[in-house]
Amino acid sequence: MDRIAITGGYRLEGQLPISGAKNAALPLMCASLLTKETLTLSNLPHLADIKTLKLLLEGHGVKTTVENEGVNLSEGQTISFETPDITSTVAPYDIVRKMRASILVLGPLLAREGEATVSLPGGCAIGNRPIDLHLKGFEEMGAKIELEEGYVRAVAPGGRLEGGTVHFPTVSVGATENILMAATLASGETIIDNAAREPEISDLANCLNAMGANISGIGTKTLTVKGVESLHGAQYAVMPDRIEAGSYAVAAAMTRGEVELLGHDLLDVMRGTAGVLKQAGVGFKQTDDGVIVTLERDKIKGVDVSTQPYPGFPTDMQAQLMAMMTICDSASVINETIFENRFMHVPELCRMGADITMHGSTAIVRGVDGLLGAPVMATDLRASMSLVLAGLVADRQTFVNRIYHLDRGYERLVEKLSACGAKIIRDANLGI
Ligand code: EPZ
Repeated sequence: MDRIAITGGYRLEGQLPISGAKNAALPLMCASLLTKETLTLSNLPHLADIKTLKLLLEGHGVKTTVENEGVNLSEGQTISFETPDITSTVAPYDIVRKMRASILVLGPLLAREGEATVSLPGGCAIGNRPIDLHLKGFEEMGAKIELEEGYVRAVAPGGRLEGGTVHFPTVSVGATENILMAATLASGETIIDNAAREPEISDLANCLNAMGANISGIGTKTLTVKGVESLHGAQYAVMPDRIEAGSYAVAAAMTRGEVELLGHDLLDVMRGTAGVLKQAGVGFKQTDDGVIVTLERDKIKGVDVSTQPYPGFPTDMQAQLMAMMTICDSASVINETIFENRFMHVPELCRMGADITMHGSTAIVRGVDGLLGAPVMATDLRASMSLVLAGLVADRQTFVNRIYHLDRGYERLVEKLSACGAKIIRDANLGI
């Protein structure tokens, strides 16, 4: 099983290309189920989750063609998705269990075929992650939902969902995306109230409109969708990954380096993150090709933050911020409000000498002068990144195990960091 070894203490300097957003790419790929015509997506990142979803979609009858492999660091891949017929409306457990985002085929299958049978995704390291908000939304659009043997069986009476008002009592990114996709082909108008406002949802809505959908209120908490008879194909480029960008901004600041993150509108999509990093002393300078990130003070300033739905500070940046706060000039209080168990990185950071105490969903991080390299264990995607960040500044060597978690969300991480001067290698035979 591959490991990563990092020798800490090297400043990051140079250019680092930001890939297409995983959390935009996944729903965009599911949108291909909504049309018989070809949806071509470019700037798709080379990630394990993209491969997993591509396999799942092919099982439903989607024909995929890799138009451009995207061989160099700064280029994503281009893949065409064509679904002349849905050959199966069943999403099997052995794929869904690997990746929760598979649940996003439910809405498109229900909208296109009038039925879908999708395995319940099950929990993961950061929480039990139910799908009740998804199912309640489909019921409000006339679907009949049954749970049998670990699968959700959804049927639209008469073969078509009815437009209606879907109110989400709590904000859910995935449920908003699922209902939004289903509503494009429903009869009549659907209002989605208290919709999530993450930029990835706007990316999906813009792509659906390019396919002939009629969605308004994009970027707000109320989306209005006028159902149409069918959608046509389109070509669409995936937005840049704001969480990858935020993660590498933290890396630049922690190593007191100077890194130009390459990508368009990065500061705009990083809105929830950049504000907090600026409070901590991180400087951002817009350039023609992206944004230069530096630390504008001697030491990182301790900041207090609660994770929130967009445009608040994203939960997907919580672990990375915590790594940064382990070497701050004072202390930091970090409160996780979205997931019930998103602190798996804490014990591992403490093994590297961090001073973190937990009080329920709140972590108190007291800055220390330096971290100590150690063998550590990755437990989930963003926790893994926080350990890599800590390793970049720790003394001696840090070995990160179970890095398959990283492969789910960080494209070519070792290459990108090495190109900026990090001493980082990946190998199955690294000493421990
Ligand atoms: C998306 O997950 C992202 N994944 C997550 O990123 C991200 O952390 C999360 O949104 C929050 O921003 C993708 O986009 C593929 P939610 P999702 O539905 O849609 C509860 C990463 O690291 N909830 O907004 O699953 C849920 O348990 C990943 O890239 C219900 O109770 O998140 C959680 O506590 C991790 N019932 C909260 O809502 C439901 O039906 C927010 O979940 C749905 C969700």
